[in-house]
Amino acid sequence: MTQVATGPVNPEIEAIRHHYEVSNEFYRLLLGPTMMYSGGYWQEGEDLYEGLDRAQERKLDAFVELTDAANASRVLDIGCGWGTMADRVTTVHGAEQAVGLTLSRTQADYIAGIGNPKIETRVESWADHEAVGAYDAAFCINALEHFVHSSLPPRERTRQFRTFFKQCHTFLRPEGRMVLHTMTVEQPKLDRQVIDDLKFLQREEFEGCHIPHLHELALAAEGLFEVVEIRNEPFSFSRACRAWLQRLAERRDEAVAMEGEAVVQRFERYLDIFAYLLEDKHFNNFRVTLARRD
Ligand SMILES: C[S@@+](CC[C@H](N)C(=O)[O-])C[C@H]1O[C@@H](n2cnc3c(N)ncnc32)[C@H](O)[C@@H]1O
Repeated sequence: MTQVATGPVNPEIEAIRHHYEVSNEFYRLLLGPTMMYSGGYWQEGEDLYEGLDRAQERKLDAFVELTDAANASRVLDIGCGWGTMADRVTTVHGAEQAVGLTLSRTQADYIAGIGNPKIETRVESWADHEAVGAYDAAFCINALEHFVHSSLPPRERTRQFRTFFKQCHTFLRPEGRMVLHTMTVEQPKLDRQVIDDLKFLQREEFEGCHIPHLHELALAAEGLFEVVEIRNEPFSFSRACRAWLQRLAERRDEAVAMEGEAVVQRFERYLDIFAYLLEDKHFNNFRVTLARRD
């Protein structure tokens, strides 16, 4: 079932659609059958390219375990992409229902095509989602990077992250767990290349996107959630970017035929920027497991 929220479209939603409403066919070529657009858990020695799908599944299974989501009544995936987590938690792990929130209509169409009656997709922001104590577990996998606009002053940004955590607190039942996987930025070093690349990300590919600082999130979640575990996994994401780049290189002509040269070049540039910013530790990729406080 898909529900599309109506109402005025704001520029922030348009910015997200600029990136995520490239065709599903193109994303399938880029991401492979698992359609996960985030980091994966490769095993030692596993091939980057051949192991991509298994690495993604391994990550999803780890998140299900961390949140006790197996056999849950209802789970929420905030920024659900193409519904892979919602599908896996209901088909492999026995959850009865999964609700996925996305702003992308093409992603919602793709999920509808999976035909899993246990998934409810809502084209709706987390800010507008209304549910009180409705979920046993929640996930937010590399989506939080879109939630706060970079033009806001620091105090306002923290306030907005606080609103996000308050919403999640409302969504979950007491002690319900949530896994947040998010990039964070370190204090940028004054290196011309890094500054230019950050500007490209923020001004062209992900307009207005603010990669948070860890301290903003810590402050925003204080008193609402207990931090059960926190780990920095930058290579989970940089490896995924490298694997996607390899897929794109191997099927470049097809990708250009689908979306045109300019789109393919944009993706090549931004994926390489993310990969090196993570590899060189300008960016982190934190996995944070949270439990709702009363
Ligand atoms: C990088 S994708 C990650 C998708 C998925 N979690 C995965 O790992 O493959 C980011 C997702 O966040 C969604 N998103 C961005 N802003 C959102 C918001 N305010 N509310 C709900 N979803 C949002 C986008 O539509 C997209 O599905």
